[in-house]
Amino acid sequence: MKRLLIVYHSCTGGTLQMAQAAAAAARREAGVTVRLEAAAAAGPQELLEADGYLFACPENLAAMSGVMKDFFDRTYYPVLDRLQGRAYATLICAGSDGTNAARQVERIATGWRLRDVAPPLIVCTHAQTPEEILRPKQIGAADLARCEELGATLAAGLALGIF
Ligand SMILES: Cc1cc2nc3c(=O)[nH]c(=O)nc-3n(C[C@H](O)[C@H](O)[C@H](O)COP(=O)(O)O)c2cc1C
Repeated sequence: MKRLLIVYHSCTGGTLQMAQAAAAAARREAGVTVRLEAAAAAGPQELLEADGYLFACPENLAAMSGVMKDFFDRTYYPVLDRLQGRAYATLICAGSDGTNAARQVERIATGWRLRDVAPPLIVCTHAQTPEEILRPKQIGAADLARCEELGATLAAGLALGIF
């Protein structure tokens, strides 16, 4: 059995829905176990035990969200040089941009020598005002379908030994 670890952080629910959609699709793939873990609860052991990763977080203040950054801060050195070549992909939930958060995750993954299997998937919620930004998010069906496709791709690649 190959193991896919999905680490997520979400403030207003958008990233969580994206991660759950990817997890549900990945779980339909026989031969892969899927672990969906909140960033605050995940650590080096979860990373070491997985064969591939999906990192999912919002972009806040032009950066990955603080809780997600804390996850990487806590795990970066404990697993350095021990994850080489493993597959990963990224989900970003953003109000209007998302590219900086995606770039930050990519730099960390490069340091770990992970292999990106897809471009970062950024979902834009178009939340611009403080009220919209603080409101619980509902990710649309089309965007959730993109997340499902990415989860399924990761899982299939792991199961087939392509990644
Ligand atoms: C403090 C804060 C800062 C934010 N900064 C950005 C930003 O720099 N770029 C952006 O695209 N969205 C920004 N947003 C919007 C969030 O990315 C957006 O609301 C997203 O849906 C949050 O994901 P979540 O629902 O998983 O928490 C910000 C939101 C908050 C609360």
